[in-house]
Amino acid sequence: MRVVLGVAGGIAAYKACSLLRLLAEAGHDVTVVPTAAALKFVGAPTWAALSGKPVSPDVWSSVHEVPHVRLGQEADLVIVAPATADLLAKAATGQADDLLTNVLLTARCPVVMAPAMHTEMWDHPATQANVSTLTERGVHIVPPASGRLTGKDTGPGRLPEPEVLYAVCEREMARSATAAHTVASADAAARATTSADVARGPGRGRGDLTGRRVVVSAGGTREPLDPVRYLGNRSSGKQGHALAVSAAERGARVTLVTSAAADLPGIDVVAVETALQMREAVLAAFADSDVVVMAAAVADFRPAAYAPSKIKKSHSAHVDGSEDDSAPTITLVRNPDILAELVRARGGSGSPVIVGFAAETGDDDGTVLEHGRAKLERKGCDVLVVNEVGEGKTFGADDNTVTVLRRGSDESVEVGPATKAAVSDAVWDVVATLL
Ligand code: CTP
Repeated sequence: MRVVLGVAGGIAAYKACSLLRLLAEAGHDVTVVPTAAALKFVGAPTWAALSGKPVSPDVWSSVHEVPHVRLGQEADLVIVAPATADLLAKAATGQADDLLTNVLLTARCPVVMAPAMHTEMWDHPATQANVSTLTERGVHIVPPASGRLTGKDTGPGRLPEPEVLYAVCEREMARSATAAHTVASADAAARATTSADVARGPGRGRGDLTGRRVVVSAGGTREPLDPVRYLGNRSSGKQGHALAVSAAERGARVTLVTSAAADLPGIDVVAVETALQMREAVLAAFADSDVVVMAAAVADFRPAAYAPSKIKKSHSAHVDGSEDDSAPTITLVRNPDILAELVRARGGSGSPVIVGFAAETGDDDGTVLEHGRAKLERKGCDVLVVNEVGEGKTFGADDNTVTVLRRGSDESVEVGPATKAAVSDAVWDVVATLL
């Protein structure tokens, strides 16, 4: 693929060298377009040597090749890393006073920007307005990571690590390549039925969650029995994490409450273990939210008592060879139903939109879908994502097949088999219509 790597004038420009290497080693044809300020941090010889191509920040080199138009037109992806406050402002207002800003105006491929700057500059309403404008136009903004900045200060503003940016680039290129090879029927697209065959086109749905606050719970809770044992379940958290990433890509500010380890740049991750901790974290974020998605597999029960020291098999094997085969009885108590609590807490206001998940198996009492519809009514949420579970299905897999149900509507959206990212997009397509 042809990639243009734009580099603006920030100290994080040095990290773009590693990103360039990763892209080049993966076989992409990378042209580096630094701004004049970027060259004060990393010189042209470095970019030229690493990319194997001449490098110029202005439109006056190799004019006969019309690079200011050709580079953008021919690119499969443009990524700007780091994108400074100045570059974001220029891009948002359509200025074109150097090669990079010209490329941004001529590119029709996916455009990714990774802002990096001091926290005050990032938080400034002018920068945030520029980010919103760019997001609405379909630019994929990778939010800055939090951490140590150039001086002694810390906070949001760091350029995410090159590996993270590289993964975003690959995902964007894979998406747009799938979309280019897909002839999706207008009907299917209109019904927002997403599958591996009906991938999101570049920019489709982008920015539709801009400014929205989203809470996603993910993973299976672990209910401790003693310091080494817990009651758990087989949920991997992958679908919930994909939902969080997809919402962030569409412009939302996302809080992910998860029991599965996650380092997702730009997402506020709250690590929890038990259902009670998950309840506390979800309720804390709920008040400010526009959408809550309960994708977590919350344990319905927990051990009534926690043994502060390891429960011993104790005297079961005696020296004389006789066996004591007694085993402890574990008493369980019910965990709170977080989803039901959220529905009660919002009362008749209808806000936030609440999305539940249901892991179902068909049985003598009904099909997976019938159980799903009954659960949607019982739970009182707005949307229910129904998963068929069972041997070899869903848990830990990268693909998923779900049916999305809406309260008050007989229609259902079948999704998959599709990647968990594509399933997430389909869920957000439905939720976005309710906002
Ligand atoms: N859920 C919750 N709190 C619980 C249990 C479940 O918030 N203590 C949420 C899940 O995150 C999911 C939805 O409720 O969004 C459905 O969970 P599920 O376990 O399928 O529903 P139950 O009401 O527990 O029904 P079942 O008897 O089928 O287990």
